[in-house]
Amino acid sequence: MSVKDLRFVITGSGTGIGRATAQVAAAKGAKIMVSDLNDANGKQVAEDIRKSGGAAEYFHCDVTNPQEVEALMKATADAFGGIDVLHNNAGIHETALAPADQCNIEGMPLEVFRKVLEVNAVGPWLCTKYALPYLKKSENASVINAASTGSQSGYPNNSAYGTSKGGIRLQTQNLAVDLAKYKIRVNCYGPTAIATDMVTNFVKQSPDPVAFEKALIATSLIPRLGRPEEVAELVCFLASKESGFINAAYILIDGGSLAWRGSADQIGL
Ligand SMILES: NC(=O)c1ccc[n+]([C@@H]2O[C@H](COP(=O)([O-])OP(=O)(O)OC[C@H]3O[C@@H](n4cnc5c(N)ncnc54)[C@H](O)[C@@H]3O)[C@@H](O)[C@H]2O)c1
Repeated sequence: MSVKDLRFVITGSGTGIGRATAQVAAAKGAKIMVSDLNDANGKQVAEDIRKSGGAAEYFHCDVTNPQEVEALMKATADAFGGIDVLHNNAGIHETALAPADQCNIEGMPLEVFRKVLEVNAVGPWLCTKYALPYLKKSENASVINAASTGSQSGYPNNSAYGTSKGGIRLQTQNLAVDLAKYKIRVNCYGPTAIATDMVTNFVKQSPDPVAFEKALIATSLIPRLGRPEEVAELVCFLASKESGFINAAYILIDGGSLAWRGSADQIGL
């Protein structure tokens, strides 16, 4: 599959899945605008890509801030001559904003619930809105949204995240309808637990982190956490011309964990 010369904007790409996607796509010849709230991380990712011979720049952007989002899209077009791929990757979980015992509906402050929705669902909408004038000029335009297995199933103390990820799944389908006339594809993917800071922090908040991590992969048919690079390869496929007939899709990348209702020990894993 080819993403060579495609111009990517990746939000929240200072670490985790976004960073892996920046690195994997750059290694395949894409041009990457790395973007994050955390400037030190983001600049490092862009610098490392350049040192390996790839093309990358960094631009600070909080995806909830319309002025910063508009400036990010303009900076990308100025740097690379346009935008082909918007990867709406930036995201947060309530456990990053409040102690675990406040991440249920009884304890969660309203502002935490709103913040998670703002970053995970409003942010991608804003980024798509401001990338649109540039995407319309691309011959291989697509928007790729980070959904989650939480887009389709519940989890304890996950109501804000689950609401936001269910929302982004349907936002994907609705925007794919609106943007079809411009030949812009809009897809999303749903990972289960992937080994990044988000999951490490989530696990750390548990009273028994070892048992909690085991529980996270208890129904997986591939009994381990996913790797950021595995998600990055899926994003590259969705961005490539080879996936040109895939639109408005939600693609699970979950080791088979949502396929059944058992636990790994029942089948000797
Ligand atoms: N890791 C998983 O298990 C998993 C599973 C399903 C979905 N996802 C989704 O994948 C995406 C990336 O997850 P990750 O695990 O790499 O997360 P992460 O926490 O490791 O990294 C997220 C990045 O987003 C940035 N960010 C946070 N708020 C931002 C904002 N307002 N504006 C711009 N950047 C912001 C952070 O600074 C960070 O660099 C998220 O949308 C997440 O919900 C992750």
